[in-house]
Amino acid sequence: MKFAIIYTPFLEQHPYIIEKAEEYFEDVLAVPIEGVRYEYRSDGTPKVMYKNTDLTDFDIVFPRLSGEDLLFSEQMIEILNESDVYVHMDSDSFSISSNKFSTVKELSGGEVKVPRSIYTLSTEAAADAAKNIGYPVTIKLISGYGGKGIMRAKDESELRPIIDTLEVFEQDICLQDFIENPGEDIRILVIGEDTYSYKRVGLEEEWRSNISRGGNREEFDAPEWMREMAVKASKLTGFDICGVDIISSDEEGFIVEINASPGITEETSEVVGIDIPEEMVTFVKQKALAVEHEEEV
Ligand SMILES: Nc1ncnc2c1ncn2[C@@H]1O[C@H](COP(=O)(O)OP(=O)(O)O)[C@@H](O)[C@H]1O
Ligand SMILES: [Mg+2]
Repeated sequence: MKFAIIYTPFLEQHPYIIEKAEEYFEDVLAVPIEGVRYEYRSDGTPKVMYKNTDLTDFDIVFPRLSGEDLLFSEQMIEILNESDVYVHMDSDSFSISSNKFSTVKELSGGEVKVPRSIYTLSTEAAADAAKNIGYPVTIKLISGYGGKGIMRAKDESELRPIIDTLEVFEQDICLQDFIENPGEDIRILVIGEDTYSYKRVGLEEEWRSNISRGGNREEFDAPEWMREMAVKASKLTGFDICGVDIISSDEEGFIVEINASPGITEETSEVVGIDIPEEMVTFVKQKALAVEHEEEV
């Protein structure tokens, strides 16, 4: 069977997954998205080409993408899904997860909890909404990442300069209820129906708990309700594999984000006590075998 990982940018964690894939697949290819081209012809289905290799002939393509080349990446996932290549997400999942407010929208049907969120173009509407939600509020850039693009205002005097600045940079205004938390959140890795959890604890005096902002992973055995919520959220957004960020107290939790390419390093495996690449690679292999079987029937 053939497995390809398509990435942007290159991260040191990719070889960790690739080495595991090599144990389970005869052909393993690592592809930078910059090298990919799509070919459309009037006859037949579109192709996803890398040099002389047609990736639509692969059994599995595993995207590890930032939201940077969103439109290009979306096309790729769509073509691969239509070509019966196994990808761990639906065609629109990537765009949903790349936009924090699309994520909230998909999740807001009542099955899982999300923070109360407001999306507007007008500073006046934003100031009114913040009064309504109650301070403090968070202000988020739609496509922020790694903890960059999220701000907090304790009152209107702090909010106004932030939203005025967003206007200058022509950014939409997204407000969200600030969920009180001790600078930590829960990351749940979902692989099919299985879940692996840990806590991310931010630096001192820091309310953002992202690892890329200096946060640390700590062991955390998530309660069953939280795991179920994460699996439900992955299904609502069309993912078989994803990372779900939850801010939580003992009894309730709010989902703040779904990550299409959650960070997977040796430390992640250590903190959950399971070889995560192994779980992922064996899961996608099973899925691809099921696709093959369907084709035969
Ligand atoms: N509504 C919120 N209330 C309190 N803290 C939040 C809220 N949303 C996010 N955070 C904190 O900020 C971090 C980054 O926010 P998130 O929405 O996950 O964006 P990013 O893509 O930057 O990770 C979260 O991990 C969490 O620690
Ligand atoms: Mg996050």
